[in-house]
Amino acid sequence: MKNEVVHFVLDRIEEGIAVLVGEDGKTYDVPLASLPEGSREGSHLDAGQAENGKPALFTLVSGDTGENKKRLSRLFKKSAKNIPEPKGFDYMKTKAVRLHSKMDLRLEEIELPEIRDDEILACVISDSICMSSHKAAEQGAAHKRVPDDVEDNPVIIGHEFCGRIEKVGAKWADKFKAGDKFVIQPALNYKGSLAAPGYSYKYCGGASEYVIIPPEVMICDCLLPYDGDAFFYGSLAEPMSCIVGGFHANYHVRPGSYHHEMGIVKGGKAAILAGAGPMGLGAADYAVHCDRAPSLLIVTDIDDARLKRAAEIVSPEEAARHGVDLRFVNTASAEDPIAFLREMTGGTGFDDVFVYAPVKSVVETGDGILARDGCLNFFAGPTDPAFSALFNFYNVHYGSTHIVGTSGGNTDDMRESISMMEKGTINPAGMITHIGGLNAYADTVINLPSIKGAKKLVYTHVTLPLTAIADFGAKAEELAGTPEGELFADLDAICSAHGGLWCREAEERILRDTAINA
Ligand SMILES: NC(=O)c1ccc[n+]([C@@H]2O[C@H](COP(=O)([O-])OP(=O)(O)OC[C@H]3O[C@@H](n4cnc5c(N)ncnc54)[C@H](O)[C@@H]3O)[C@@H](O)[C@H]2O)c1
Repeated sequence: MKNEVVHFVLDRIEEGIAVLVGEDGKTYDVPLASLPEGSREGSHLDAGQAENGKPALFTLVSGDTGENKKRLSRLFKKSAKNIPEPKGFDYMKTKAVRLHSKMDLRLEEIELPEIRDDEILACVISDSICMSSHKAAEQGAAHKRVPDDVEDNPVIIGHEFCGRIEKVGAKWADKFKAGDKFVIQPALNYKGSLAAPGYSYKYCGGASEYVIIPPEVMICDCLLPYDGDAFFYGSLAEPMSCIVGGFHANYHVRPGSYHHEMGIVKGGKAAILAGAGPMGLGAADYAVHCDRAPSLLIVTDIDDARLKRAAEIVSPEEAARHGVDLRFVNTASAEDPIAFLREMTGGTGFDDVFVYAPVKSVVETGDGILARDGCLNFFAGPTDPAFSALFNFYNVHYGSTHIVGTSGGNTDDMRESISMMEKGTINPAGMITHIGGLNAYADTVINLPSIKGAKKLVYTHVTLPLTAIADFGAKAEELAGTPEGELFADLDAICSAHGGLWCREAEERILRDTAINA
């Protein structure tokens, strides 16, 4: 090695020694303490050379290093074949759903290694499924957050999870303890990397019975204690935090000022386009109950059944009690949706427009209905890297219209969501329409766009087909006389008594006979 930067893969760690595989094909033993915080097996590092010829002055390289990374992965595998299995590892088996490649999700039993001092072992109890996981499955390694080498190192999918801490590495012992309930804010943004639980990690994702939480989650303060009385609300804290993040990211500027006033216009006019899906439903709930509620809120969609259910869950009557004129409208038959929607504002246009579907015409409608200084938030995540739409730059210049995009919330957004749920200010239970077990996870993610209803919630220690809450009664009849039939009958009775919504009592019933209560 000359005095140039060389790339390494961290092969394994044994008793404080990190074994690195270098670009030159050789292995090097260095003290683990000499590596940057967050280094773990599989990490990529750059280094120079010390006097003794050993690599030194390491920096962690982000997950996306293109060709280098592929080359090193191959090297790593080549040399790994000659390395005996490290001793002293205590394996723990867990069932998990892993992404192997495009549309290839598998429920498997995998082995978790003993945790390191800077890691935490946790039991996942609930995980709600996001459309973004479907998109990750659709794109495989091409997805921004999915590692290039996912075919060799499959990742556990699912990022809306809540559970219980089982074992805490020494480094975090003063902050967390076994038995604590937790949620994770997956958009870590660790050192600018897009890596996130549920997309990028071998041992950390929601579709698993047990996970190893990597150190960067704690370093970024993204492992949050959760005191709520139901795990599913903890799962919903993640999508809610994305919604809250979007509302905080919008901004406005007073004429003559360069100061960005953050957040939607309080008492202003807002629209959520393509908003009768689960995320739009959460957004409407938040808009009505947040501290910057608009005076007018229009939610559009093209699906009548979804619009009808949305209006039942976040009702215009409830909104009116908070001073919000809330209307749900179907724009499918509107000849000129821009004129139709602008008219509802008395011609002024909307201060805040959220686009909840990655559809060109919806973005262009959003642009067309912006008021002066109107802010369009492109919230939906497109799968096509070339996705684009027309935006009126005359209005950008003369009308100060502008655009933002958010792809996740931050830790404060998650704390705000948890706090609002705990106080009962918002109730995202209405986002959930289906319940299932880990056995149903992979098919649900793959087929998500074609499954009716809203959010699908999975209990990872349960075996249950994905079932609509509305179908619990029918399932109970179909399976009468079996334990499943009894379970569905109980769930049907509980949910019916709660307005057809999933609730804490239903969760307690579904978890009653599982190993987590043993
Ligand atoms: N930005 C973030 O942080 C974040 C987080 C989670 C999800 N998302 C994204 O948010 C979006 C919404 O999530 P969801 O789970 O509610 O998705 P969804 O697909 O269930 O809902 C989208 C809605 O858009 C409607 N729609 C489709 N085409 C339309 C059109 N032309 N006009 C009007 N309505 C139309 C559909 O009927 C549907 O009700 C997704 O793209 C998802 O990936 C973003």
